[in-house]
Amino acid sequence: MDYIIDTHAHYDDEAFNEDRESLLSSMQEAGIGRIINVGASMQGCRDSWALSEKYDFIYAALGVHPDDIVNLTEEDMDWIAEKAKEPKVVAIGEIGLDYHWPEPAPSLQKQWFARQLNLARQVNLPVIIHSRDAAKDTADILEAEKAGSIGGVMHCYSYSAEMAKQFLNMGFYFGIGGVLTFKNAKKLKEAVAYIPMDRLLLETDCPYLAPTPHRGERNCSLYLPLVVEEMAQIKGITKEEVIRITSENARRLFGL
Ligand code: NI
Repeated sequence: MDYIIDTHAHYDDEAFNEDRESLLSSMQEAGIGRIINVGASMQGCRDSWALSEKYDFIYAALGVHPDDIVNLTEEDMDWIAEKAKEPKVVAIGEIGLDYHWPEPAPSLQKQWFARQLNLARQVNLPVIIHSRDAAKDTADILEAEKAGSIGGVMHCYSYSAEMAKQFLNMGFYFGIGGVLTFKNAKKLKEAVAYIPMDRLLLETDCPYLAPTPHRGERNCSLYLPLVVEEMAQIKGITKEEVIRITSENARRLFGL
């Protein structure tokens, strides 16, 4: 029996300050075999790195989320590029575009998105893409930067099945988490039905987006079997197959 790989978690978040150690120590016994802790800010990158140093089964992704780019510097890029040489660093992310709020300005977001895609190419690592309310600009920049040759995942995929075609053609994977279990997630269920099984990855984005019946609570990797169950139903395969295939996909993309 294979184990589950959580390809997108934020265990550095303060939501885990009370019980981080005991929670992480319980993961492997519960069937969560690997976790990628994803940086969203420079502090998040440093903390992700530290978690990957402390725990064998935790890997780090280093990158800065569009909400946090305002104070980024070239020195920060140098730090990430240097750390990216370490074997426990498996991706550049999360990076991308988020137009949900008016700030930071789209022009600045695009600039740092392209910059970090270049960094990923330079260090030869796949990318973890955050994209909200910005499907067209995201696809345009990925095309312009030839991100297909870098490879990566559309994390917390939230666009249509139709839009998925474009990312599939670039060879991208799709990160699927708790939202799949929400009653009103019709669009995502359709997208997951459409996307081939060999392009799907499991993720939590914890502490956010806990699956039903924990919706609204603090999320963690231990809830991933609920996502597995939903995906198995949509795809008409067993839960074991979902785990086996998504874990193979994660190993292939991130070289775990
Ligand atoms: Ni995230």
